[in-house]
Amino acid sequence: MRRFLFFLCGFLAALAVLLAYAHYISRLPPFPPLPAGAALIERSALTDPKSFLSGGRGAAAVRPIKNPALPFKSAVRVRTFSKPARPYDVQLRAPTTAPVRAGDLLAARFYLRRTLFSRPARLDFVFEQAGGDYRKSITLPSDAGVRWRRVDVPFRAAGDYPAGKAQAAFRAGFGEQTVDIGGFELVNYGRAAKPAAVAPAGFYAGREADAPWRKAAEERIEKLRKAGLTVRVSGPDGKPVRGAAVSVRLVKHSFYFGSAVSSKFLFAGNREENKRRYRETFLKLFNSATIENGLKWPFWEGEQKLRADKMVAWLGAKGIKLRGHTLVWPAWEHLPPGLEKLKTDPEKLRAAIRGHIKEEAAYYRGKAAEWDVLNEPTAHKEITDLLGPGEVPEWFRLAREADPSARLFVNDYDILDDFGANMEQQDAYEALILRLLKEKAPLDGIGLQSHFKWDLTPPERLLRVLDRFGRLGRPLQSTELDIDVSDEKLQADYLRDFMTAVFSHPAVEGITLWCFWEGVHSRPGPALYRKDWSKKPAAEALEDLLLRKWRTETAGAADGRGEFAVRGFLGEYEVKASAGGVSGAAGAVLGKDGVTVAIRLKR
Ligand code: XIL
Repeated sequence: MRRFLFFLCGFLAALAVLLAYAHYISRLPPFPPLPAGAALIERSALTDPKSFLSGGRGAAAVRPIKNPALPFKSAVRVRTFSKPARPYDVQLRAPTTAPVRAGDLLAARFYLRRTLFSRPARLDFVFEQAGGDYRKSITLPSDAGVRWRRVDVPFRAAGDYPAGKAQAAFRAGFGEQTVDIGGFELVNYGRAAKPAAVAPAGFYAGREADAPWRKAAEERIEKLRKAGLTVRVSGPDGKPVRGAAVSVRLVKHSFYFGSAVSSKFLFAGNREENKRRYRETFLKLFNSATIENGLKWPFWEGEQKLRADKMVAWLGAKGIKLRGHTLVWPAWEHLPPGLEKLKTDPEKLRAAIRGHIKEEAAYYRGKAAEWDVLNEPTAHKEITDLLGPGEVPEWFRLAREADPSARLFVNDYDILDDFGANMEQQDAYEALILRLLKEKAPLDGIGLQSHFKWDLTPPERLLRVLDRFGRLGRPLQSTELDIDVSDEKLQADYLRDFMTAVFSHPAVEGITLWCFWEGVHSRPGPALYRKDWSKKPAAEALEDLLLRKWRTETAGAADGRGEFAVRGFLGEYEVKASAGGVSGAAGAVLGKDGVTVAIRLKR
């Protein structure tokens, strides 16, 4: 009897756990419909068998899901039996039922999960031209978990498409897997609509704590950004000292973490207290700086130039790397007044711009580690068109000649931001970089500005855009990160997620914020520290990453061989050791291949 009761209890407990788990995985996320707009697809589009395209017979199967408990009007289950040649060999397609114009703001929303016994599953959403070169307005890869999750994809149309000439598609040809897709909507809000109107407040795909991209990113950070550091301690007699007390501290990351700085608050602010905190906060967090305006051509004269010089000197003395920004911002409004008069005399204009590049780059020779030689080229074409196609590579050559030690960058916006979905801009920027490389312009790096408003790009999407630009073979930097949303918790979460995804990508070597203190920015939204220096949640998030999570500061005792080993972030270290009244210290640089530091203790 006791045995029976024992088994019964065990059985009931197991049942309860199972039921709780079943309840957990079947719980639905909130199910609000998209704001009203012009619907672009039929509700039944995905359950229509005609929409389904499969690469080989038996490679996949699709069936509608009939479950009255689901709030979706329609849902389908897609089983992929084996990996086809191309991901789109297994896909569902829904043609548009209304016209779309280039620049229209569209939004897709759907729910996604994999079945409990499926292998890890992936589903890519694309919106593309139906036929021709299948030009994409967006490609969004999503990993499916066992719980339903909502995916929101606001994006802008890349071209003009009459009804039926564009399509939404879900690709599932990634290997053996079973995914469910439900509640699919695609709505057009027109060209004038702002992303804030459709971006669901407080939401971007991948924000959730258990989003699958997180684990992969952490693993890449562990692998790419860290290495082994071994301290070997010997005594005055040269013999290993077992039990020696060792401490290891990262003093400077190899990865560039930076911010824009303003001369106003480094030197000229009217309140000493603010200046002190501004400098202190900067030095506590960053190893790289961009002077917000002072090195731009129209600013770089007279008083302003002296101020810029003072900042350059201060940064140099503090060992902060300087990103020179920028030699040419080729728009009349960003050039010195008067230059526009040379519109009708391209040769004079050419000489003036070339002269400026030579002058400023030579002036800061050896002081600016990097230069944005060219800023925002895709939006501003008038001047480069006027001067002819050979001019931009020449600007890079002149900058190289004037300061051979500076690494030369091009810098542009709407690549990582704008939901990572501004294909027009991405295509144009990529084409420009390819042209520069083809012409053998000395281009050392690619800048991606990263000014966000509501156009928060899902981390998975950020990684794909970084893949694309990483393939060009030059290091990438996020150069002007700011997140201008009124929801402070959203700002903090996105800052954390953006930085984590970007830090985890092998092609990236730095992230520079565009500002950190409210007192110095033209708009209060993106600041991290308020005017009174209290911290917004985003400042807490930044400090949590830079001062805790991505820090290496540890101590312990040397083992029997006199060794103490840690895995730390790449960068410059300060190492100390002591035992029985003798001590020693050493600096070390931890690179990808690891490092061993020998310390001989002395009295
Ligand atoms: C901005 C500054 O933050 C402002 O103070 C100034 O009035 C205009 O320029 N892209 C760039 C930066 O490359 O140089 C711009 O900085 C922001 C957009």
